[in-house]
Amino acid sequence: MNFPVVAPSILASDFSNLQKEITMINESEADWVHIDVMDGVFVPNISFGVPVIQSVKKHARKPLDVHLMIVQPERYLKTFRDAGADVISIHVEASTHLHRSIDEIHSLGAKAGVAINPHTPVSALHDVIQYIDVVCVMSVNPGFGGQKFIEHTYEKIRELRSLIQRRNGTALIEIDGGVNEKNAHALIDAGAHILVAGNFVFSSADPKGTISNLKKAGQSQA
Ligand code: DX5
Ligand code: ZN
Repeated sequence: MNFPVVAPSILASDFSNLQKEITMINESEADWVHIDVMDGVFVPNISFGVPVIQSVKKHARKPLDVHLMIVQPERYLKTFRDAGADVISIHVEASTHLHRSIDEIHSLGAKAGVAINPHTPVSALHDVIQYIDVVCVMSVNPGFGGQKFIEHTYEKIRELRSLIQRRNGTALIEIDGGVNEKNAHALIDAGAHILVAGNFVFSSADPKGTISNLKKAGQSQA
């Protein structure tokens, strides 16, 4: 894998031109497509669901990184896998039987991610870290794009890196929320592998160039 993995979040894209947005991602240096599913219960916002992911899958030439911000995510793992998810991330705060859900994601043939909210300590992952492929560290409170990056995230990344080493894990660290060209550098330096970016990419005049710059900003410190 060519680090950092850059994953534009289509939450910030123009839904009336979704095919055009996916084509832009296909033609860019982006590695994954980040897809935020929100249920209005786990987070105070509703985004989109399965039919949209099926449509994206028809056009995307890159893996779909599906971030489930929903309660009882175990009820929908197969549905999202069937819709085209390559990585499925579920929240530790929403999962009563996290270990079982991780197993199920793997048995469906997808990569398993676990997301943690800003208030959730890294120690919550102590007993699952060795089984997961991705840790999605929320660097904003989930629910909305375009929020301010929480600076405490750097400390969490360093803690996580040390936990992964101690447990001989291979999980990649993904940062989600408020990522831009200014903090990309420091995030990768702290130990992040995957940068999710919504507004920073889609609000820019040149999204492809912005993706390329994010990739470079990370590489120069990797
Ligand atoms: C927030 C979502 C993020 C969001 C990131 O709940 O999980 O993936 O789309 O958007 P920006 O990069 O605009 O903060
Ligand atoms: Zn997300």
